[in-house]
Amino acid sequence: MARVLIVDDEKGIRDALAQVFEYEGQEVRVAEDGPDALLLANAFQPDLVFLDVKMPAMDGLEVLARLEYESPQSLVIMISGHGTIDTALEATRKGAYDFLQKPLDTDRLLVTFRRALELKGLTESMEELRSQVESRYEIVGDSPPLRRVLERIEKVAATDARILISGDNGTGKELVARAIHRLSSRSDAVFIEVNCAAIPSELIESELFGHLRGSFTGAFSDRAGKFEQANGGTLFLDEIGDMSSDAQAKVLRVLEQGVLTRIGGSEPIEVDVRVLSATNKDLEQEIEDGGFREDLFYRLNVVPIRVPSLSERREDIPMLVTHFSTEMSTREGSAPRVFSDAAIERLKTLTWPGNVRELRNTVERLLILSDGSEITSDDVDSLTISGARSANPGRELLALSNFSAFKEEAERAYILGKLRANDWNVAETARRIEMPRSNLYKKIEKYGLVRED
Ligand SMILES: Nc1ncnc2c1ncn2[C@@H]1O[C@H](COP(=O)(O)OP(=O)(O)OP(=O)(O)O)[C@@H](O)[C@H]1O
Ligand SMILES: [Mg+2]
Repeated sequence: MARVLIVDDEKGIRDALAQVFEYEGQEVRVAEDGPDALLLANAFQPDLVFLDVKMPAMDGLEVLARLEYESPQSLVIMISGHGTIDTALEATRKGAYDFLQKPLDTDRLLVTFRRALELKGLTESMEELRSQVESRYEIVGDSPPLRRVLERIEKVAATDARILISGDNGTGKELVARAIHRLSSRSDAVFIEVNCAAIPSELIESELFGHLRGSFTGAFSDRAGKFEQANGGTLFLDEIGDMSSDAQAKVLRVLEQGVLTRIGGSEPIEVDVRVLSATNKDLEQEIEDGGFREDLFYRLNVVPIRVPSLSERREDIPMLVTHFSTEMSTREGSAPRVFSDAAIERLKTLTWPGNVRELRNTVERLLILSDGSEITSDDVDSLTISGARSANPGRELLALSNFSAFKEEAERAYILGKLRANDWNVAETARRIEMPRSNLYKKIEKYGLVRED
Protein backbone atom coordinates (compact mmCIF):
# COMPACT_ATOMS: atom_id res chain seq x y z
CA MET A 1 0.00 0.00 0.00
CA ALA A 2 1.31 3.43 -0.93
CA ARG A 3 0.73 6.67 0.94
CA VAL A 4 -0.72 9.32 -1.33
CA LEU A 5 -1.15 13.01 -0.61
CA ILE A 6 -3.42 15.11 -2.81
CA VAL A 7 -3.02 18.87 -2.78
CA ASP A 8 -5.51 21.01 -4.67
CA ASP A 9 -7.60 24.05 -3.85
CA GLU A 10 -10.49 22.71 -5.94
CA LYS A 11 -12.68 20.39 -3.89
CA GLY A 12 -13.95 18.56 -6.98
CA ILE A 13 -10.41 17.49 -7.92
CA ARG A 14 -9.48 16.46 -4.38
CA ASP A 15 -12.54 14.28 -4.08
CA ALA A 16 -12.14 12.69 -7.49
CA LEU A 17 -8.49 11.78 -6.96
CA ALA A 18 -9.08 10.56 -3.43
CA GLN A 19 -11.81 8.30 -4.67
CA VAL A 20 -9.64 6.79 -7.40
CA PHE A 21 -6.80 5.96 -5.05
CA GLU A 22 -8.95 4.80 -2.20
CA TYR A 23 -10.64 2.46 -4.60
CA GLU A 24 -7.14 1.22 -5.50
CA GLY A 25 -6.55 0.44 -1.83
CA GLN A 26 -4.01 3.19 -1.14
CA GLU A 27 -3.78 5.32 1.97
CA VAL A 28 -4.91 8.82 1.04
CA ARG A 29 -4.72 12.27 2.65
CA VAL A 30 -5.86 15.56 1.16
CA ALA A 31 -4.86 19.18 1.69
CA GLU A 32 -6.44 22.29 0.24
CA ASP A 33 -3.45 24.60 0.27
CA GLY A 34 0.33 24.67 0.46
CA PRO A 35 0.90 25.37 4.15
CA ASP A 36 -1.55 22.61 5.07
CA ALA A 37 0.10 20.24 2.63
CA LEU A 38 3.56 20.80 4.14
CA LEU A 39 2.35 20.13 7.68
CA LEU A 40 0.60 16.99 6.56
CA ALA A 41 3.54 15.82 4.46
CA ASN A 42 5.88 16.14 7.38
CA ALA A 43 3.71 13.88 9.54
CA PHE A 44 2.48 11.51 6.83
CA GLN A 45 5.67 11.11 4.73
CA PRO A 46 3.75 10.27 1.57
CA ASP A 47 5.28 8.11 -1.16
CA LEU A 48 3.52 10.20 -3.77
CA VAL A 49 2.21 13.75 -3.82
CA PHE A 50 -0.23 15.06 -6.43
CA LEU A 51 0.32 18.78 -6.35
CA ASP A 52 -1.69 21.52 -8.02
CA VAL A 53 0.44 24.14 -9.74
CA LYS A 54 -1.78 27.11 -9.06
CA MET A 55 -3.11 27.70 -5.57
CA PRO A 56 -3.68 30.77 -3.45
CA ALA A 57 -1.39 31.38 -0.44
CA MET A 58 1.52 29.34 -1.75
CA ASP A 59 1.90 28.10 -5.30
CA GLY A 60 2.91 24.60 -6.33
CA LEU A 61 6.51 25.47 -7.15
CA GLU A 62 7.13 26.76 -3.68
CA VAL A 63 5.44 23.78 -2.10
CA LEU A 64 7.61 21.54 -4.25
CA ALA A 65 10.77 23.24 -3.05
CA ARG A 66 9.76 22.92 0.59
CA LEU A 67 8.65 19.33 0.25
CA GLU A 68 12.29 18.50 -0.31
CA TYR A 69 12.83 19.26 3.37
CA GLU A 70 9.52 18.15 4.82
CA SER A 71 9.30 14.84 3.02
CA PRO A 72 12.41 14.16 0.98
CA GLN A 73 11.39 10.64 -0.12
CA SER A 74 8.20 11.76 -1.82
CA LEU A 75 7.78 11.68 -5.56
CA VAL A 76 5.80 14.69 -6.72
CA ILE A 77 3.42 14.75 -9.67
CA MET A 78 2.25 18.21 -10.63
CA ILE A 79 -1.33 18.87 -11.74
CA SER A 80 -1.59 21.69 -14.20
CA GLY A 81 -4.49 23.62 -15.68
CA HIS A 82 -4.47 25.10 -19.17
CA GLY A 83 -2.54 28.19 -18.32
CA THR A 84 0.09 26.55 -16.19
CA ILE A 85 1.80 23.98 -18.38
CA ASP A 86 4.98 26.00 -18.56
CA THR A 87 5.13 26.14 -14.79
CA ALA A 88 4.50 22.40 -14.58
CA LEU A 89 7.39 21.83 -16.98
CA GLU A 90 9.59 24.05 -14.91
CA ALA A 91 8.58 22.01 -11.87
CA THR A 92 9.80 18.82 -13.51
CA ARG A 93 13.13 20.51 -14.06
CA LYS A 94 13.16 21.40 -10.39
CA GLY A 95 12.63 17.89 -9.16
CA ALA A 96 9.00 16.99 -9.77
CA TYR A 97 8.71 13.51 -11.19
CA ASP A 98 6.00 14.19 -13.78
CA PHE A 99 2.93 16.28 -14.46
CA LEU A 100 -0.66 15.68 -15.45
CA GLN A 101 -3.04 18.04 -17.21
CA LYS A 102 -6.56 18.94 -16.22
CA PRO A 103 -9.12 17.67 -16.98
CA LEU A 104 -7.69 14.54 -15.42
CA ASP A 105 -8.14 11.28 -17.23
CA THR A 106 -8.36 8.27 -14.91
CA ASP A 107 -6.39 5.89 -17.13
CA ARG A 108 -3.57 8.32 -17.59
CA LEU A 109 -3.62 9.04 -13.87
CA LEU A 110 -3.26 5.37 -12.98
CA VAL A 111 -0.49 4.78 -15.50
CA THR A 112 1.52 7.66 -14.08
CA PHE A 113 0.79 6.46 -10.57
CA ARG A 114 2.02 2.92 -11.29
CA ARG A 115 5.14 4.11 -13.02
CA ALA A 116 5.92 6.33 -10.06
CA LEU A 117 5.43 3.44 -7.68
CA GLU A 118 7.73 1.28 -9.73
CA LEU A 119 10.30 3.99 -9.54
CA LYS A 120 9.80 4.20 -5.79
CA GLY A 121 10.35 0.49 -5.57
CA LEU A 122 13.51 0.96 -7.54
CA THR A 123 14.84 3.79 -5.45
CA GLU A 124 14.19 1.79 -2.33
CA SER A 125 16.09 -1.17 -3.66
CA MET A 126 18.91 1.18 -4.59
CA GLU A 127 19.07 2.11 -0.96
CA GLU A 128 19.02 -1.52 0.04
CA LEU A 129 21.85 -2.08 -2.37
CA ARG A 130 23.80 0.77 -0.88
CA SER A 131 23.35 -0.54 2.63
CA GLN A 132 24.41 -3.98 1.40
CA VAL A 133 27.56 -2.48 -0.03
CA GLU A 134 28.19 -0.74 3.25
CA SER A 135 27.68 -3.95 5.16
CA ARG A 136 30.21 -5.58 2.85
CA TYR A 137 32.85 -3.18 4.10
CA GLU A 138 31.79 -3.26 7.71
CA ILE A 139 34.43 -4.42 10.15
CA VAL A 140 32.71 -6.94 12.37
CA GLY A 141 34.05 -8.06 15.71
CA ASP A 142 34.32 -7.00 19.30
CA SER A 143 37.42 -8.71 20.65
CA PRO A 144 40.01 -6.59 22.47
CA PRO A 145 42.66 -7.01 19.73
CA LEU A 146 40.19 -5.92 17.04
CA ARG A 147 38.92 -3.06 19.16
CA ARG A 148 42.47 -1.76 19.40
CA VAL A 149 42.62 -1.75 15.61
CA LEU A 150 39.32 0.11 15.36
CA GLU A 151 40.46 2.67 17.91
CA ARG A 152 43.61 3.33 15.99
CA ILE A 153 41.66 3.66 12.75
CA GLU A 154 39.49 6.31 14.33
CA LYS A 155 42.46 8.15 15.71
CA VAL A 156 44.44 8.36 12.47
CA ALA A 157 41.70 8.49 9.86
CA ALA A 158 41.22 12.24 10.06
CA THR A 159 44.91 12.98 9.61
CA ASP A 160 46.71 12.68 6.31
CA ALA A 161 49.26 10.30 7.80
CA ARG A 162 50.44 7.42 5.66
CA ILE A 163 49.51 4.12 7.15
CA LEU A 164 51.04 0.73 6.60
CA ILE A 165 48.59 -2.07 7.30
CA SER A 166 50.11 -5.44 7.98
CA GLY A 167 48.62 -8.81 8.75
CA ASP A 168 48.20 -12.32 7.38
CA ASN A 169 46.16 -13.28 4.35
CA GLY A 170 42.49 -12.62 4.69
CA THR A 171 42.63 -10.80 8.02
CA GLY A 172 40.78 -7.75 6.69
CA LYS A 173 43.56 -5.36 5.62
CA GLU A 174 41.56 -4.04 2.71
CA LEU A 175 38.58 -3.40 4.98
CA VAL A 176 40.83 -1.40 7.27
CA ALA A 177 42.07 0.70 4.35
CA ARG A 178 38.51 1.40 3.22
CA ALA A 179 37.42 2.29 6.74
CA ILE A 180 40.26 4.80 7.05
CA HIS A 181 39.22 6.42 3.79
CA ARG A 182 35.57 6.47 4.79
CA LEU A 183 36.34 8.19 8.08
CA SER A 184 38.76 10.69 6.56
CA SER A 185 38.15 14.17 5.23
CA ARG A 186 38.69 12.67 1.76
CA SER A 187 35.70 10.36 2.01
CA ASP A 188 33.83 12.19 -0.74
CA ALA A 189 36.78 11.82 -3.07
CA VAL A 190 37.98 8.64 -4.75
CA PHE A 191 39.49 5.55 -3.19
CA ILE A 192 41.82 3.97 -5.73
CA GLU A 193 43.27 0.56 -5.17
CA VAL A 194 46.33 -0.95 -6.83
CA ASN A 195 47.24 -4.56 -6.27
CA CYS A 196 50.99 -4.42 -6.75
CA ALA A 197 51.28 -8.20 -6.82
CA ALA A 198 48.78 -8.63 -9.64
CA ILE A 199 50.47 -6.27 -12.08
CA PRO A 200 53.42 -7.59 -14.10
CA SER A 201 56.58 -5.73 -13.06
CA GLU A 202 57.13 -4.25 -16.51
CA LEU A 203 53.69 -2.58 -16.35
CA ILE A 204 53.60 -1.39 -12.79
CA GLU A 205 55.24 1.96 -13.45
CA SER A 206 52.84 2.83 -16.21
CA GLU A 207 49.97 1.69 -14.02
CA LEU A 208 51.06 3.94 -11.17
CA PHE A 209 52.36 6.97 -13.02
CA GLY A 210 50.71 6.83 -16.41
CA HIS A 211 52.37 7.25 -19.77
CA LEU A 212 52.40 9.26 -22.93
CA ARG A 213 51.36 7.81 -26.20
CA GLY A 214 54.19 6.00 -27.97
CA SER A 215 56.45 5.93 -24.90
CA PHE A 216 56.65 2.14 -25.20
CA THR A 217 55.20 -0.60 -27.35
CA GLY A 218 51.55 -0.86 -26.56
CA ALA A 219 51.17 2.71 -25.28
CA PHE A 220 48.52 3.67 -27.82
CA SER A 221 47.32 6.79 -26.10
CA ASP A 222 48.13 9.09 -23.22
CA ARG A 223 47.02 7.64 -19.95
CA ALA A 224 46.84 8.87 -16.38
CA GLY A 225 48.21 6.51 -13.75
CA LYS A 226 46.67 5.57 -10.43
CA PHE A 227 48.47 8.36 -8.57
CA GLU A 228 46.86 10.95 -10.84
CA GLN A 229 43.48 9.23 -10.69
CA ALA A 230 43.63 9.32 -6.92
CA ASN A 231 44.33 13.04 -6.82
CA GLY A 232 42.41 14.60 -3.94
CA GLY A 233 41.57 11.17 -2.58
CA THR A 234 43.20 8.04 -1.22
CA LEU A 235 45.52 5.62 -2.99
CA PHE A 236 45.70 2.13 -1.54
CA LEU A 237 48.85 0.26 -2.51
CA ASP A 238 47.98 -3.34 -1.73
CA GLU A 239 50.64 -6.05 -1.50
CA ILE A 240 53.30 -3.35 -1.45
CA GLY A 241 55.93 -5.96 -0.58
CA ASP A 242 55.67 -7.32 -4.12
CA MET A 243 56.63 -4.11 -5.85
CA SER A 244 59.70 -4.14 -8.08
CA SER A 245 62.70 -2.14 -6.91
CA ASP A 246 62.43 0.28 -9.85
CA ALA A 247 58.84 1.03 -8.96
CA GLN A 248 59.81 1.39 -5.30
CA ALA A 249 62.33 4.08 -6.22
CA LYS A 250 59.75 6.00 -8.20
CA VAL A 251 57.08 5.77 -5.55
CA LEU A 252 59.60 7.08 -3.05
CA ARG A 253 60.26 10.08 -5.25
CA VAL A 254 56.58 10.91 -5.58
CA LEU A 255 56.10 10.65 -1.84
CA GLU A 256 59.06 12.91 -1.19
CA GLN A 257 58.28 15.54 -3.79
CA GLY A 258 54.55 15.33 -4.34
CA VAL A 259 55.10 15.42 -8.10
CA LEU A 260 55.36 12.76 -10.74
CA THR A 261 56.07 12.51 -14.42
CA ARG A 262 54.32 10.16 -16.76
CA ILE A 263 56.47 7.61 -18.56
CA GLY A 264 57.83 9.26 -21.70
CA GLY A 265 56.90 12.69 -20.37
CA SER A 266 58.96 15.46 -18.89
CA GLU A 267 56.29 17.68 -17.41
CA PRO A 268 56.01 17.36 -13.64
CA ILE A 269 52.45 16.75 -12.44
CA GLU A 270 51.54 17.73 -8.92
CA VAL A 271 49.36 15.32 -6.96
CA ASP A 272 47.65 15.48 -3.60
CA VAL A 273 47.18 11.89 -2.54
CA ARG A 274 46.99 10.13 0.77
CA VAL A 275 48.77 6.82 0.52
CA LEU A 276 47.73 3.75 2.46
CA SER A 277 49.56 0.52 1.91
CA ALA A 278 49.20 -3.08 2.97
CA THR A 279 51.31 -6.18 3.04
CA ASN A 280 51.26 -9.69 4.42
CA LYS A 281 55.04 -9.83 4.30
CA ASP A 282 57.42 -9.01 7.07
CA LEU A 283 58.85 -5.88 5.47
CA GLU A 284 61.61 -5.46 8.02
CA GLN A 285 62.82 -8.92 7.11
CA GLU A 286 62.51 -8.00 3.42
CA ILE A 287 64.63 -4.93 4.04
CA GLU A 288 67.29 -7.06 5.64
CA ASP A 289 67.19 -9.43 2.69
CA GLY A 290 67.48 -6.53 0.26
CA GLY A 291 63.99 -6.93 -1.22
CA PHE A 292 62.50 -3.70 0.07
CA ARG A 293 63.88 -0.18 0.40
CA GLU A 294 64.30 1.00 3.93
CA ASP A 295 63.73 4.67 3.05
CA LEU A 296 60.43 3.83 1.37
CA PHE A 297 59.40 1.72 4.33
CA TYR A 298 59.78 4.68 6.68
CA ARG A 299 57.85 6.94 4.34
CA LEU A 300 54.95 4.50 4.14
CA ASN A 301 54.97 3.38 7.72
CA VAL A 302 54.24 6.67 9.49
CA VAL A 303 51.55 4.87 11.45
CA PRO A 304 51.54 1.07 11.51
CA ILE A 305 48.37 -0.90 11.94
CA ARG A 306 48.67 -4.61 12.44
CA VAL A 307 45.51 -6.62 11.86
CA PRO A 308 45.52 -9.65 14.15
CA SER A 309 44.98 -13.14 12.79
CA LEU A 310 41.68 -14.79 13.44
CA SER A 311 43.30 -17.29 15.79
CA GLU A 312 44.27 -14.35 18.02
CA ARG A 313 40.64 -13.30 18.32
CA ARG A 314 38.44 -16.36 18.25
CA GLU A 315 35.86 -14.46 20.30
CA ASP A 316 34.93 -12.69 17.06
CA ILE A 317 33.96 -15.92 15.31
CA PRO A 318 30.30 -16.05 16.46
CA MET A 319 29.65 -12.48 15.32
CA LEU A 320 31.40 -13.06 12.02
CA VAL A 321 29.44 -16.24 11.36
CA THR A 322 26.15 -14.44 11.93
CA HIS A 323 27.29 -11.53 9.79
CA PHE A 324 28.27 -13.71 6.84
CA SER A 325 25.22 -15.94 6.98
CA THR A 326 22.88 -12.94 7.19
CA GLU A 327 24.70 -11.32 4.33
CA MET A 328 24.40 -14.41 2.22
CA SER A 329 20.72 -14.94 2.89
CA THR A 330 20.02 -11.29 2.11
CA ARG A 331 21.87 -11.68 -1.16
CA GLU A 332 19.98 -14.84 -2.05
CA GLY A 333 16.69 -13.52 -0.75
CA SER A 334 16.30 -16.58 1.46
CA ALA A 335 15.42 -16.93 5.11
CA PRO A 336 18.49 -16.68 7.36
CA ARG A 337 19.61 -20.00 8.81
CA VAL A 338 21.06 -20.48 12.25
CA PHE A 339 24.23 -22.17 13.31
CA SER A 340 23.76 -24.29 16.42
CA ASP A 341 25.83 -23.33 19.45
CA ALA A 342 27.79 -26.54 19.06
CA ALA A 343 28.53 -25.73 15.43
CA ILE A 344 29.87 -22.33 16.39
CA GLU A 345 31.95 -23.84 19.17
CA ARG A 346 33.40 -26.25 16.64
CA LEU A 347 34.21 -23.43 14.25
CA LYS A 348 35.99 -21.64 17.09
CA THR A 349 38.34 -24.57 17.57
CA LEU A 350 39.57 -24.79 13.96
CA THR A 351 42.89 -23.30 12.93
CA TRP A 352 41.89 -20.77 10.22
CA PRO A 353 45.16 -20.29 8.35
CA GLY A 354 43.18 -18.29 5.78
CA ASN A 355 41.70 -16.12 8.53
CA VAL A 356 38.43 -14.26 8.03
CA ARG A 357 38.33 -14.93 4.30
CA GLU A 358 38.50 -18.66 4.95
CA LEU A 359 35.83 -18.38 7.63
CA ARG A 360 33.60 -16.54 5.21
CA ASN A 361 34.08 -19.18 2.53
CA THR A 362 33.42 -21.90 5.06
CA VAL A 363 30.19 -20.30 6.23
CA GLU A 364 29.03 -20.02 2.63
CA ARG A 365 29.94 -23.62 1.91
CA LEU A 366 28.11 -24.79 5.00
CA LEU A 367 25.01 -22.86 4.01
CA ILE A 368 25.07 -24.28 0.51
CA LEU A 369 26.00 -27.85 1.24
CA SER A 370 24.08 -28.65 4.40
CA ASP A 371 20.36 -29.23 4.56
CA GLY A 372 18.06 -28.77 7.48
CA SER A 373 17.07 -25.54 9.12
CA GLU A 374 20.05 -25.49 11.45
CA ILE A 375 23.74 -25.98 10.72
CA THR A 376 25.07 -28.53 13.19
CA SER A 377 28.51 -29.46 14.46
CA ASP A 378 28.30 -32.61 12.34
CA ASP A 379 27.90 -30.42 9.26
CA VAL A 380 30.99 -28.52 10.35
CA ASP A 381 32.95 -31.74 10.80
CA SER A 382 32.05 -33.21 7.48
CA LEU A 383 32.22 -30.07 5.37
CA THR A 384 35.26 -28.15 6.59
CA ILE A 385 38.88 -28.54 5.62
CA SER A 386 39.61 -30.74 8.58
CA GLY A 387 36.75 -32.92 7.41
CA ALA A 388 38.29 -33.19 3.97
CA ARG A 389 41.53 -34.21 5.62
CA SER A 390 39.95 -37.09 7.48
CA ALA A 391 40.88 -40.69 6.82
CA ASN A 392 37.65 -41.85 5.32
CA PRO A 393 36.32 -39.39 2.77
CA GLY A 394 34.20 -41.98 1.02
CA ARG A 395 31.50 -41.98 3.65
CA GLU A 396 31.40 -38.22 3.78
CA LEU A 397 30.92 -37.98 0.06
CA LEU A 398 28.00 -40.38 0.30
CA ALA A 399 26.46 -38.15 2.95
CA LEU A 400 26.15 -35.26 0.54
CA SER A 401 22.59 -34.66 -0.52
CA ASN A 402 22.88 -34.16 -4.26
CA PHE A 403 25.13 -34.76 -7.22
CA SER A 404 26.40 -31.23 -7.66
CA ALA A 405 27.36 -31.04 -3.99
CA PHE A 406 29.20 -34.32 -4.47
CA LYS A 407 31.05 -33.05 -7.52
CA GLU A 408 32.11 -29.88 -5.77
CA GLU A 409 33.30 -31.72 -2.72
CA ALA A 410 35.23 -34.24 -4.77
CA GLU A 411 36.83 -31.54 -6.89
CA ARG A 412 37.78 -29.59 -3.84
CA ALA A 413 39.29 -32.54 -2.01
CA TYR A 414 41.23 -33.59 -5.13
CA ILE A 415 42.72 -30.16 -5.73
CA LEU A 416 43.55 -29.68 -2.07
CA GLY A 417 45.27 -33.07 -1.96
CA LYS A 418 47.30 -32.35 -5.10
CA LEU A 419 48.34 -28.92 -3.88
CA ARG A 420 49.58 -30.45 -0.66
CA ALA A 421 51.42 -33.15 -2.54
CA ASN A 422 53.21 -30.47 -4.57
CA ASP A 423 54.02 -28.34 -1.59
CA TRP A 424 51.52 -25.72 -2.76
CA ASN A 425 53.44 -24.94 -5.91
CA VAL A 426 50.51 -23.90 -8.08
CA ALA A 427 52.39 -23.96 -11.40
CA GLU A 428 53.72 -27.42 -10.71
CA THR A 429 50.36 -28.74 -9.53
CA ALA A 430 48.66 -27.36 -12.62
CA ARG A 431 51.20 -29.07 -14.86
CA ARG A 432 50.86 -32.40 -13.05
CA ILE A 433 47.10 -32.56 -13.12
CA GLU A 434 47.03 -31.10 -16.63
CA MET A 435 44.85 -28.19 -15.79
CA PRO A 436 45.50 -24.64 -17.10
CA ARG A 437 47.09 -22.62 -14.35
CA SER A 438 44.50 -19.85 -14.51
CA ASN A 439 41.84 -22.48 -14.08
CA LEU A 440 43.55 -23.85 -11.03
CA TYR A 441 43.78 -20.37 -9.53
CA LYS A 442 40.05 -19.96 -10.03
CA LYS A 443 39.33 -23.24 -8.29
CA ILE A 444 41.62 -22.31 -5.40
CA GLU A 445 39.75 -19.07 -5.04
CA LYS A 446 36.35 -20.71 -5.46
CA TYR A 447 36.97 -23.20 -2.68
CA GLY A 448 38.93 -20.79 -0.50
CA LEU A 449 41.87 -23.20 -0.35
CA VAL A 450 44.81 -22.04 1.70
CA ARG A 451 48.04 -23.55 2.79
CA GLU A 452 47.79 -24.74 6.37
CA ASP A 453 51.08 -24.78 8.27
N1 LIG B 1 36.37 -7.96 10.65
C1 LIG B 1 35.73 -8.34 9.52
N2 LIG B 1 34.39 -8.22 9.44
C2 LIG B 1 33.72 -8.60 8.35
N3 LIG B 1 34.30 -9.12 7.25
C3 LIG B 1 35.63 -9.27 7.26
C4 LIG B 1 36.41 -8.88 8.39
N4 LIG B 1 37.70 -9.13 8.11
C5 LIG B 1 37.72 -9.64 6.87
N5 LIG B 1 36.49 -9.73 6.34
C6 LIG B 1 36.12 -10.29 5.03
O1 LIG B 1 37.09 -11.28 4.72
C7 LIG B 1 37.54 -11.16 3.38
C8 LIG B 1 39.01 -10.83 3.34
O2 LIG B 1 39.22 -9.51 3.81
P1 LIG B 1 40.29 -8.54 3.13
O3 LIG B 1 40.27 -8.67 1.66
O4 LIG B 1 40.11 -7.20 3.70
O5 LIG B 1 41.61 -9.21 3.70
P2 LIG B 1 43.12 -8.93 3.35
O6 LIG B 1 43.82 -8.88 4.64
O7 LIG B 1 43.21 -7.74 2.46
O8 LIG B 1 43.50 -10.24 2.57
P3 LIG B 1 44.75 -10.52 1.57
O9 LIG B 1 45.99 -10.49 2.39
O10 LIG B 1 44.47 -11.89 1.07
O11 LIG B 1 44.70 -9.45 0.54
C9 LIG B 1 36.67 -10.12 2.76
O12 LIG B 1 35.57 -10.76 2.17
C10 LIG B 1 36.23 -9.27 3.92
O13 LIG B 1 35.00 -8.65 3.66
MG1 LIG C 1 43.91 -7.61 0.52
